[in-house]
Amino acid sequence: MPTARAFDPLDRLLIEAQRALDSIAGRPEASRPNPAADTAEVVLDEPERRHAAGLMRINHVGEVCAQALYSGQAAVARDPATRADLLAAAAEETDHLAWCADRLRELNSRPSLLNPLWYAGSFAIGALAGLRGDGWNLGFVVETERQVEAHLGEHLETLPGADLRSRAILRVMKDDEARHADHAEQAGAKPLPQPVPSIMAVASKLMKAVAYRL
Ligand SMILES: [Fe+2]
Ligand SMILES: [Fe+2]
Repeated sequence: MPTARAFDPLDRLLIEAQRALDSIAGRPEASRPNPAADTAEVVLDEPERRHAAGLMRINHVGEVCAQALYSGQAAVARDPATRADLLAAAAEETDHLAWCADRLRELNSRPSLLNPLWYAGSFAIGALAGLRGDGWNLGFVVETERQVEAHLGEHLETLPGADLRSRAILRVMKDDEARHADHAEQAGAKPLPQPVPSIMAVASKLMKAVAYRL
Protein backbone atom coordinates (compact mmCIF):
# COMPACT_ATOMS: atom_id res chain seq x y z
CA MET A 1 0.00 0.00 0.00
CA PRO A 2 1.53 3.37 -0.90
CA THR A 3 2.40 5.61 2.04
CA ALA A 4 1.29 9.23 2.06
CA ARG A 5 4.17 11.49 1.07
CA ALA A 6 5.09 14.42 3.24
CA PHE A 7 4.07 17.84 1.93
CA ASP A 8 6.94 19.70 0.32
CA PRO A 9 7.21 23.50 0.60
CA LEU A 10 5.39 24.06 -2.72
CA ASP A 11 2.47 21.83 -1.62
CA ARG A 12 2.28 23.77 1.63
CA LEU A 13 2.34 27.11 -0.18
CA LEU A 14 -0.50 25.98 -2.45
CA ILE A 15 -2.52 24.70 0.52
CA GLU A 16 -2.06 28.05 2.30
CA ALA A 17 -3.01 29.97 -0.86
CA GLN A 18 -6.16 27.83 -1.24
CA ARG A 19 -7.08 28.39 2.40
CA ALA A 20 -6.61 32.16 1.97
CA LEU A 21 -8.78 32.24 -1.15
CA ASP A 22 -11.49 30.16 0.53
CA SER A 23 -11.57 32.56 3.48
CA ILE A 24 -11.55 35.74 1.43
CA ALA A 25 -13.52 34.93 -1.70
CA GLY A 26 -15.03 31.49 -1.17
CA ARG A 27 -18.44 30.58 0.12
CA PRO A 28 -17.44 28.75 3.31
CA GLU A 29 -19.61 25.84 4.37
CA ALA A 30 -20.62 25.59 8.01
CA SER A 31 -20.60 22.14 9.59
CA ARG A 32 -23.24 23.15 12.17
CA PRO A 33 -26.71 24.61 11.48
CA ASN A 34 -26.97 28.41 11.46
CA PRO A 35 -27.99 29.42 15.03
CA ALA A 36 -30.47 31.95 13.56
CA ALA A 37 -32.32 29.28 11.57
CA ASP A 38 -35.32 29.23 13.93
CA THR A 39 -35.41 32.98 14.58
CA ALA A 40 -37.89 34.99 12.52
CA GLU A 41 -36.58 37.91 10.45
CA VAL A 42 -37.83 41.32 11.61
CA VAL A 43 -37.80 44.17 9.10
CA LEU A 44 -35.24 46.77 10.20
CA ASP A 45 -35.47 50.42 9.19
CA GLU A 46 -32.62 51.74 7.02
CA PRO A 47 -30.38 53.19 9.78
CA GLU A 48 -30.82 49.98 11.81
CA ARG A 49 -30.05 47.79 8.80
CA ARG A 50 -26.90 49.79 8.05
CA HIS A 51 -25.74 49.65 11.66
CA ALA A 52 -26.37 45.91 11.92
CA ALA A 53 -24.52 45.36 8.62
CA GLY A 54 -21.55 47.41 9.88
CA LEU A 55 -21.32 45.32 13.04
CA MET A 56 -21.70 42.02 11.17
CA ARG A 57 -19.02 43.13 8.68
CA ILE A 58 -16.67 43.70 11.64
CA ASN A 59 -17.49 40.19 12.90
CA HIS A 60 -16.94 38.73 9.45
CA VAL A 61 -13.53 40.44 9.24
CA GLY A 62 -12.77 39.09 12.71
CA GLU A 63 -13.40 35.59 11.41
CA VAL A 64 -11.29 36.16 8.29
CA CYS A 65 -8.52 37.26 10.68
CA ALA A 66 -9.12 34.17 12.85
CA GLN A 67 -8.65 31.89 9.81
CA ALA A 68 -5.43 33.73 8.93
CA LEU A 69 -4.05 33.85 12.48
CA TYR A 70 -4.66 30.15 13.07
CA SER A 71 -3.20 29.23 9.67
CA GLY A 72 -0.12 31.41 10.30
CA GLN A 73 0.33 29.94 13.75
CA ALA A 74 -0.19 26.36 12.54
CA ALA A 75 2.30 26.88 9.69
CA VAL A 76 5.14 27.40 12.18
CA ALA A 77 3.93 25.38 15.20
CA ARG A 78 6.64 22.99 16.40
CA ASP A 79 4.53 20.38 18.16
CA PRO A 80 2.25 18.40 15.79
CA ALA A 81 -0.42 18.26 18.55
CA THR A 82 -0.43 22.08 18.80
CA ARG A 83 -0.67 22.33 15.00
CA ALA A 84 -3.58 19.85 14.95
CA ASP A 85 -5.32 21.83 17.74
CA LEU A 86 -4.92 25.10 15.82
CA LEU A 87 -6.31 23.62 12.62
CA ALA A 88 -9.25 22.08 14.52
CA ALA A 89 -10.06 25.49 16.04
CA ALA A 90 -9.80 27.06 12.55
CA ALA A 91 -12.39 24.54 11.33
CA GLU A 92 -14.83 25.68 14.02
CA GLU A 93 -14.12 29.31 13.08
CA THR A 94 -15.25 28.38 9.54
CA ASP A 95 -18.78 28.02 10.94
CA HIS A 96 -18.55 31.57 12.30
CA LEU A 97 -17.25 32.84 8.97
CA ALA A 98 -20.12 31.18 7.08
CA TRP A 99 -22.81 32.41 9.51
CA CYS A 100 -21.51 36.02 9.39
CA ALA A 101 -21.41 35.87 5.58
CA ASP A 102 -25.01 34.56 5.53
CA ARG A 103 -26.17 37.35 7.80
CA LEU A 104 -24.41 40.04 5.73
CA ARG A 105 -26.25 38.76 2.64
CA GLU A 106 -29.58 38.82 4.51
CA LEU A 107 -28.86 42.42 5.50
CA ASN A 108 -28.24 43.26 1.81
CA SER A 109 -24.63 44.09 2.54
CA ARG A 110 -21.18 42.77 1.67
CA PRO A 111 -17.94 41.68 3.35
CA SER A 112 -15.06 44.11 3.82
CA LEU A 113 -13.31 45.15 0.62
CA LEU A 114 -10.03 44.99 2.55
CA ASN A 115 -10.28 41.28 3.41
CA PRO A 116 -7.13 40.34 1.45
CA LEU A 117 -5.22 42.90 3.51
CA TRP A 118 -6.71 41.75 6.83
CA TYR A 119 -5.88 38.15 5.91
CA ALA A 120 -2.27 38.86 4.93
CA GLY A 121 -1.58 40.98 8.02
CA SER A 122 -3.14 38.45 10.37
CA PHE A 123 -1.29 35.51 8.79
CA ALA A 124 2.03 37.36 9.33
CA ILE A 125 1.13 38.21 12.95
CA GLY A 126 0.08 34.59 13.59
CA ALA A 127 3.34 33.25 12.15
CA LEU A 128 5.40 35.73 14.20
CA ALA A 129 3.59 34.69 17.40
CA GLY A 130 4.09 31.03 16.50
CA LEU A 131 7.82 31.47 15.92
CA ARG A 132 8.23 32.41 19.59
CA GLY A 133 7.34 28.82 20.53
CA ASP A 134 4.22 26.84 21.33
CA GLY A 135 3.61 28.43 24.78
CA TRP A 136 3.45 31.84 23.13
CA ASN A 137 1.42 30.45 20.27
CA LEU A 138 -1.26 29.23 22.69
CA GLY A 139 -0.99 32.42 24.77
CA PHE A 140 -1.77 34.35 21.64
CA VAL A 141 -4.88 32.21 21.08
CA VAL A 142 -6.04 32.92 24.65
CA GLU A 143 -5.53 36.68 24.30
CA THR A 144 -7.21 36.83 20.86
CA GLU A 145 -10.21 34.76 21.92
CA ARG A 146 -10.72 36.71 25.17
CA GLN A 147 -10.64 40.00 23.26
CA VAL A 148 -13.08 38.67 20.64
CA GLU A 149 -15.36 37.32 23.37
CA ALA A 150 -15.45 40.77 25.05
CA HIS A 151 -16.17 42.55 21.78
CA LEU A 152 -18.97 40.13 20.87
CA GLY A 153 -20.47 40.97 24.26
CA GLU A 154 -20.39 44.66 23.26
CA HIS A 155 -22.04 43.92 19.90
CA LEU A 156 -24.81 41.96 21.62
CA GLU A 157 -25.56 45.18 23.54
CA THR A 158 -25.29 47.59 20.61
CA LEU A 159 -27.07 45.67 17.81
CA PRO A 160 -30.50 47.10 16.97
CA GLY A 161 -33.03 45.63 19.41
CA ALA A 162 -35.02 44.01 16.60
CA ASP A 163 -32.04 42.20 15.04
CA LEU A 164 -32.64 38.88 16.73
CA ARG A 165 -31.05 36.85 13.92
CA SER A 166 -27.63 38.52 14.26
CA ARG A 167 -27.92 38.14 18.04
CA ALA A 168 -28.62 34.40 17.80
CA ILE A 169 -25.42 33.98 15.74
CA LEU A 170 -23.24 36.14 18.00
CA ARG A 171 -24.38 34.33 21.14
CA VAL A 172 -23.15 30.97 19.84
CA MET A 173 -19.91 32.54 18.55
CA LYS A 174 -19.24 34.11 21.95
CA ASP A 175 -19.63 30.74 23.71
CA ASP A 176 -17.33 29.09 21.14
CA GLU A 177 -14.63 31.76 21.55
CA ALA A 178 -14.70 31.35 25.35
CA ARG A 179 -14.24 27.61 24.89
CA HIS A 180 -11.33 28.15 22.46
CA ALA A 181 -9.60 30.33 25.07
CA ASP A 182 -10.20 27.80 27.89
CA HIS A 183 -8.89 24.99 25.70
CA ALA A 184 -5.69 26.88 24.83
CA GLU A 185 -5.18 27.75 28.52
CA GLN A 186 -5.45 24.08 29.47
CA ALA A 187 -3.05 23.12 26.66
CA GLY A 188 -0.25 25.18 28.26
CA ALA A 189 -0.63 28.77 27.07
CA LYS A 190 1.86 31.29 28.46
CA PRO A 191 0.44 34.71 29.40
CA LEU A 192 1.63 37.29 26.87
CA PRO A 193 3.79 40.09 28.34
CA GLN A 194 2.84 43.73 27.90
CA PRO A 195 2.78 45.58 25.58
CA VAL A 196 1.64 42.69 23.33
CA PRO A 197 -1.99 42.51 24.61
CA SER A 198 -2.27 46.32 24.43
CA ILE A 199 -0.93 46.41 20.86
CA MET A 200 -3.42 43.67 19.89
CA ALA A 201 -6.25 45.72 21.43
CA VAL A 202 -5.21 48.85 19.51
CA ALA A 203 -4.92 46.88 16.23
CA SER A 204 -8.39 45.39 16.66
CA LYS A 205 -9.87 48.82 17.50
CA LEU A 206 -8.42 50.15 14.25
CA MET A 207 -9.75 47.16 12.30
CA LYS A 208 -13.23 47.66 13.78
CA ALA A 209 -13.32 51.38 12.91
CA VAL A 210 -12.37 50.68 9.27
CA ALA A 211 -14.41 47.49 8.74
CA TYR A 212 -17.63 49.11 10.00
CA ARG A 213 -17.65 51.15 6.77
CA LEU A 214 -15.28 49.47 4.34
FE1 LIG B 1 -14.77 32.92 15.71
FE1 LIG C 1 -12.34 31.36 18.29
